[in-house]
Amino acid sequence: MSAATNSGVGAASAAPTPWAISLDAVTVRYPNGTLGLDNVSLDIPAGTMVAIVGLSGSGKSTLIRTINGLVPVTSGSVAVGDRSVSGAGPRALRAIRGEIGMVFQGFNLAGRASVLQNVLVGRLAHTPLWRTLLGRYRDADKQLAYAALDSVGILPKLYSRASDLSGGQQQRVAIARALSQQPKVVLADEPVASLDPPTAHSVMNDLRRINEERGITVLVNLHLLDLAREYGVRLIGMRAGKVVYDGPAASASDADFEQIYGRSVNAADRLSGVPAPLGQGLDPRGESAANPADRADE
Ligand SMILES: Nc1ncnc2c1ncn2[C@@H]1O[C@H](COP(=O)(O)OP(=O)(O)O)[C@@H](O)[C@H]1O
Ligand SMILES: [Mg+2]
Repeated sequence: MSAATNSGVGAASAAPTPWAISLDAVTVRYPNGTLGLDNVSLDIPAGTMVAIVGLSGSGKSTLIRTINGLVPVTSGSVAVGDRSVSGAGPRALRAIRGEIGMVFQGFNLAGRASVLQNVLVGRLAHTPLWRTLLGRYRDADKQLAYAALDSVGILPKLYSRASDLSGGQQQRVAIARALSQQPKVVLADEPVASLDPPTAHSVMNDLRRINEERGITVLVNLHLLDLAREYGVRLIGMRAGKVVYDGPAASASDADFEQIYGRSVNAADRLSGVPAPLGQGLDPRGESAANPADRADE
């Protein structure tokens, strides 16, 4: 396997130019009348790492789904790079989504398929239909998949069934799938909410490296304030569909979070407030310690 080198996130191929994201007075009202976003305006320059925080129901998922056009705006406009999302028809929207890597809390992998097959799905938007139907991926696509898996440290799991991997490993496969798209933006919706604390940190580190080394614009929805502070460069706080905080993440105080949450902060708002599973508390790399050579860069 020629790509089995420790190539790092940045070396997979020429980095695509990342996209800026801009929302202008965006309101989303769901068909049942619920307000998902309430007059949100945001300018996120290309290459920014953003943590979006807020309580459950505050509109974080709606924001991410509006940016990739899964949820239509009721009013206002959304643009990514030089493309209008809110004005796009189905075909243009498909093309835009081909450039946006998505990572979800539940990983969204095909459990019975191999890790490699799951990552090759990231090439779908860039692959002619006949090749997909015949399962004949180009060598260049496979190389991108190998490099993406290598960059998140799970290349050795190439032929494993996705469902046989741990949660942290599955999330890394999902990140590799997003990377194999050579995305201009990565949108991650609560990517670490179902992971134990050490694994949550290593997955957040992977997202940070994608941003720092590839320069990709990364938006991560989080509900834990310490993760948002540590990994976000810019912090956007949401409450009841509105942006109620927008500033540097590192300097956001507990009082800022109380204003975002609309209540006092408590232990459950911090990852560090959740006890680590026995035997994992001292190892910041969590599960990836099983494969230290691949992760020695962190
Ligand atoms: N498909 C939907 N139909 C109706 N209401 C929805 C839908 N999705 C989300 N909502 C509502 O929109 C608001 C924002 O939800 P969401 O964006 O999922 O928040 P978060 O991701 O921060 O938990 C909530 O009141 C939620 O109940
Ligand atoms: Mg959500």
